[in-house]
Amino acid sequence: MKKIVIAIDGFSSCGKSTMAKDLAKEIGYTYIDSGAMYRAVTLYCLQQQLLKDGRIDEEKLRAAIPDIHISFVPNRETGKPDTCLNGVLVENEIRSMEVANMVSPVATLGFVRQTLVDRQQEMGKAKGVVMDGRDIGTVVFPDAELKIFVTASPEVRAKRRMDELIAKGEPASYEETLNNIITRDFIDSNREESPLRQAADALVLDNSHMSVAEQKAWLLAQYHNVIQA
Ligand code: DC
Repeated sequence: MKKIVIAIDGFSSCGKSTMAKDLAKEIGYTYIDSGAMYRAVTLYCLQQQLLKDGRIDEEKLRAAIPDIHISFVPNRETGKPDTCLNGVLVENEIRSMEVANMVSPVATLGFVRQTLVDRQQEMGKAKGVVMDGRDIGTVVFPDAELKIFVTASPEVRAKRRMDELIAKGEPASYEETLNNIITRDFIDSNREESPLRQAADALVLDNSHMSVAEQKAWLLAQYHNVIQA
């Protein structure tokens, strides 16, 4: 059967990664979470003290970026790949509020984006991948055979993110979570470098009132439409 590239873009916390991971599993594709790569670079900055008072030491980060190695290892329990930074498992650390609060500014830096986009294109070269992010259908794989743009209201997304954090024993306030989402939406959509945009040929999915099972069925149907065309 022909292999394709599936690009899933959209706002933060709208369930892209769950959808992408489930679809990849169902059809035997590799799932790549591009946001985890931006988060790993952010964690590196925090660990190396390249982020002080909300400012990034761009010079040091530019010099270090070739040596920031990000890899994924399968996690049988969650069914999602776990992220490693220079060989160390950092899946939990990259999901912390500290990283969430700093990731958007790091992701606005052109040299960070260029490096990570090159690596993402390399990972998808052989096709058979489902990649989620903000610029996958517009910049990373503009020729992807299937592009989805996912959206949901900020309030629904804040509630989902809070539930995730609570489940991990990291309770956060609703206000703080909602503010983080609104701020990230703004930075992600208004940055100069590859802003979050719906590709002209993307299918839009507003999942505010959909269950995970409904989304899964919808996405699988879109995949079969493309494969059978
Ligand atoms: O999907 P996420 O919330 O884990 O992404 C974390 C941040 O990374 C998000 O605020 C924007 C940025 N990002 C990006 O700029 N481009 C991507 N392809 C993926 C994520």
